Amino acid sequence: MRIQGKEYRTIWYEDKIVKIIDQTKLPHQFLIKDLKSVKDAINAIKVMEVRGAPLIGGTAAYGIVLAIQESTEKEFINKNAKELIQSRPTAINLKWAVDRMMKKLSDIDSDQVLDIALNEAKEICDEDEKFCENIGVNGLRIIEEIYNKKKSTVNILTHCNAGWLATINWGTATSPIYHAHKKGIPVHVWIDETRPRNQGANLTSYELNEEEIPNTIIADNTGGILMQRGEVDMCIVGTDRTLSNGDVCNKIGTYLKALAAHDNNVPFYVALPSSTIDWNIKDSKDIPIEERNSEELSHVEGVDENNEVKKVLIYPKKSKAMNLAFDVTPAKYVTGLITERGVSKASSEGLKKLFK
Ligand code: MRU
Repeated sequence: MRIQGKEYRTIWYEDKIVKIIDQTKLPHQFLIKDLKSVKDAINAIKVMEVRGAPLIGGTAAYGIVLAIQESTEKEFINKNAKELIQSRPTAINLKWAVDRMMKKLSDIDSDQVLDIALNEAKEICDEDEKFCENIGVNGLRIIEEIYNKKKSTVNILTHCNAGWLATINWGTATSPIYHAHKKGIPVHVWIDETRPRNQGANLTSYELNEEEIPNTIIADNTGGILMQRGEVDMCIVGTDRTLSNGDVCNKIGTYLKALAAHDNNVPFYVALPSSTIDWNIKDSKDIPIEERNSEELSHVEGVDENNEVKKVLIYPKKSKAMNLAFDVTPAKYVTGLITERGVSKASSEGLKKLFK
């Protein structure tokens, strides 16, 4: 998608270097950062220079490529593969991508290993782009249906950033929105600010602005009253891990929005590529929920009148804060899962029909 009129993907490889858009600097600075070693890739995932489930999967895949460039010793690669998987716990795409790379590389001679790793990392990213595009085509039908009934702007609420910045391109939740906009269907997006890291305000609003899609940032607790007033036609969110029974783990606050949608008969859709489905964990209580540094809550960052980035404390100095990064929305509150293969019920039967 576009930034200042130029087409980008979120990650690419050039002359032995992995290039990323540093998302900790957005929306105030657009910086492309070089990842030269596997440690750089691990750090980029940990500090969220890259974030969003599919993109951290893509970065981990390229992390394996960077490891191989440093050494083809099996022990070195295995150790770093483990560290990549541990760099963030909740999004399943990370483990999925590393496992896929390691499976591809098992039993490969060391003189071929780099080429094969590079091809596989590229394949993982190309596939994600294609899957997200398909999610857009499948989700477009839902938006179109609402538009055909309503005959006026379709208001869509989203949470966090499940946009193209969270994937390789297109995004998951935003892909149907981009497709609708390209087709000329009038859409307007309510964007949850998404405290504490403000991925909605800093990233989703930024990327929709760049594509000239009307959007309004709201405080995280505003969605409920907008739904009561009939100002939300549908919600679309992303996910970091969806269980085979349709339970959806996503950015903290998603669950409360799903409850409000349920109470107000607002359809609540979750958009995801199949790489985000965890076919193993059966009970959502077993999903590892990331707890991040409480400083993300107690401090805010922004630019002053001289465009200088400043970070300030907003809480009482002595107060404790707790920063859980994800929650789980039970399948019963999810209207449907928009995947690359079609839209399914959020249930084992629904998912099994699409993914035999
Ligand atoms: O903590 P983040 O910013 O990595 O969390 C991102 C989300 O929760 C997204 O909604 C999810 O990864 C889906 S991305 C297409």
